[in-house]
Amino acid sequence: MTWDPRSLPDLSGRVYLVTGSNAGLGYFASEQLVRAGAKVFMTGRHPNRLSAARAAIRRRVPDAAPDATEVLVLDTSNLGSVRSAAASVRGRGPLDGLLLNAGIVHPPKTRETTIDGHEVVFATNVLGHFALAGELLGVLAAASGRMVWVGSMSTSLTPYDPVDPQLVTGYTGWRAYVQSKVATTALGFEADRRLRAAGVPVSSVVAHPGYSTSGRTPGIVGVNAPTKMTRFADNLQGVVTQSKEHGAWSLVRALVDPEVHGGEFWGPRTVARGEPRRQPASRITRDPEVAARLWAASEAATGVAWPFAQAARAGSAGHRD
Ligand SMILES: NC(=O)c1ccc[n+]([C@@H]2O[C@H](COP(=O)([O-])OP(=O)(O)OC[C@H]3O[C@@H](n4cnc5c(N)ncnc54)[C@H](OP(=O)(O)O)[C@@H]3O)[C@@H](O)[C@H]2O)c1
Repeated sequence: MTWDPRSLPDLSGRVYLVTGSNAGLGYFASEQLVRAGAKVFMTGRHPNRLSAARAAIRRRVPDAAPDATEVLVLDTSNLGSVRSAAASVRGRGPLDGLLLNAGIVHPPKTRETTIDGHEVVFATNVLGHFALAGELLGVLAAASGRMVWVGSMSTSLTPYDPVDPQLVTGYTGWRAYVQSKVATTALGFEADRRLRAAGVPVSSVVAHPGYSTSGRTPGIVGVNAPTKMTRFADNLQGVVTQSKEHGAWSLVRALVDPEVHGGEFWGPRTVARGEPRRQPASRITRDPEVAARLWAASEAATGVAWPFAQAARAGSAGHRD
């Protein structure tokens, strides 16, 4: 089947949750899902930013149903916030897909920790998503749904092995970012292996957006307002970059295309930009020993053990409550 990212199949009746949906790729992924008829839980850490993003979708997709979007505060760096948002979503019924997108892309220069005591980049990009996906496994299974983790081409540029995932020693911002993306990708593949082994009808896919910049992205009030300087600088790199609107294509295809399968890696055609294609993932992210180590570290840090047996039962019952 040919896939047109500008014209998605009808997603009426489907329900998705997107983290970090008030800006960047998460905003455009949410907008594309709503345009195709889906309902989206738009989540983020700041209520005002979420309201502005929801208003933008209403303006830009005027035909969407009034309840096509629902906003929910979810700070992925705070495990209490993750648990409370997940509890609220679990009460709303089955979930067709989870886009684990939120992320710190410009890490602090020196190591910082969260309220839970974890290194902030690893906590935001990895631990919050690991906990959220575990907490929502049952409602995903009830809809035979899918989760998409967001990786990055940086994992091929400097494939650090996250032996010290929270960088207790040797912190640099770049290393923290790349390690977090090695971890999200490896955990995404490991999740798929474990879900299959446990007979849970949920697939886990990894996608990346290439190199997507805000200066190449349409200006949207309250969502994307780059300075003239940012536009100028981002346009200088125009041949190897794309807008965040186009960057969201790979994430959305990974989430909704029926021909995408668990354990696959999707990204733009030329790696940095273009229409979504299946791609090879970097070697370190495919290493099951690295993934098993990260899984154990994430379980220990979050206190969340994924409820595989319970989700398998929810899946076979196929109940949507
Ligand atoms: N852009 C690229 O070229 C590129 C390349 C590879 C991978 N990625 C990945 O794609 C994802 C999105 O990147 P982007 O380019 O769209 O970045 P972005 O424009 O900076 O947007 C990041 C989003 O994540 C949210 N976020 C940050 N910390 C959060 C937290 N603690 N809790 C909840 N939400 C939080 C932000 O919310 P606030 O507005 O509140 O900060 C924002 O909505 C990231 O995972 C990134 O690593 C991006």
